[in-house]
Amino acid sequence: MTKSGGVHKAVVPAAGLGTRFLPATKATPKEMLPVVDKPAIQYVVEEAVAAGLDDVLFITGRSKRPLEDHFDRNLELEHALDSKGDHHRLQLVNESTDLARIHYVRQGDPLGLGHAVLMAEHHVGHEPFAVLLGDDLIDPRDPILPRMMQVRQAHGGSVIALMEVPRESIALYGCPATEPTDELDAVLVTDLVEKPDPADAPSTFAVIGRYVLDPAVFAVLRQTAPGRGGEIQLTDALRVLATMPAGEGGGVRGVVFSGRRYDTGDRLSYLQASIMIACEREDLGPALRDWLRGFVASAEFADEPAARSGSDAGGPVR
Ligand code: G1P
Repeated sequence: MTKSGGVHKAVVPAAGLGTRFLPATKATPKEMLPVVDKPAIQYVVEEAVAAGLDDVLFITGRSKRPLEDHFDRNLELEHALDSKGDHHRLQLVNESTDLARIHYVRQGDPLGLGHAVLMAEHHVGHEPFAVLLGDDLIDPRDPILPRMMQVRQAHGGSVIALMEVPRESIALYGCPATEPTDELDAVLVTDLVEKPDPADAPSTFAVIGRYVLDPAVFAVLRQTAPGRGGEIQLTDALRVLATMPAGEGGGVRGVVFSGRRYDTGDRLSYLQASIMIACEREDLGPALRDWLRGFVASAEFADEPAARSGSDAGGPVR
């Protein structure tokens, strides 16, 4: 058995329109926006590879060409860096090329996350597989996929990643009803609801963007009608899986994550993620922290300039 416990394939949906980041995403996929100096999507692929997944399928849409180019060779650039003797940058350029076996399938109509996952059926076949959403970055020091794959191996079925959030934030996430198990960090999922009203939420666990799915999900997704927002929701398919017998690929467990997670899904949290990640970096962190300390203490910061009156910086903090 490999270190990934029989799970080899990662599916990464990347067909969203990125409307929250317009105009930056007019011609650039949002997955390619840099977090410090690496496209967000590269962190996600690195996480999959670190967990032992060697085959990555991107579900893409229109204007995703830069994404494909990023994971392919760039001979001209390689040549230019090589002839300058810039081996450090050459290595950076080659890192994304050599990460994993990468495949692409186009989603066609963007009908929702469940529909995107269904597009992976042909490539995945009858194996369990992982799904990683690009808006959630998991700190490499706190990996969660290996634990999820361990739970899958022990119990079968599907496994989702959960995180405690304040009740008022639950409307941004899928939310499960759960029962404890005899493992401290794992719960049994008995029901799920996509983006509930906080008052009706069955728990304060948010589904974060990591899933280990039984291939039975495909047959369920084919039967899943559009749900919240008129989209085919993965959450709705998981809800069905949660009540299906184990012998048919049913059963859903949650692994409760308590590590460091960064959200790049909207502008404010993207900025926060960029600052947090840069502060942790050896090359940039010390100088950035120094500057931040000075900036926060400065009159310029205390004055809270025009920001509050003109901008719409009040988007959801996730
Ligand atoms: C998706 C899922 C949701 C999950 C979230 C995690 O929502 O539908 O259940 O909680 O990802 O980031 P999205 O953020 O794409 O609207």
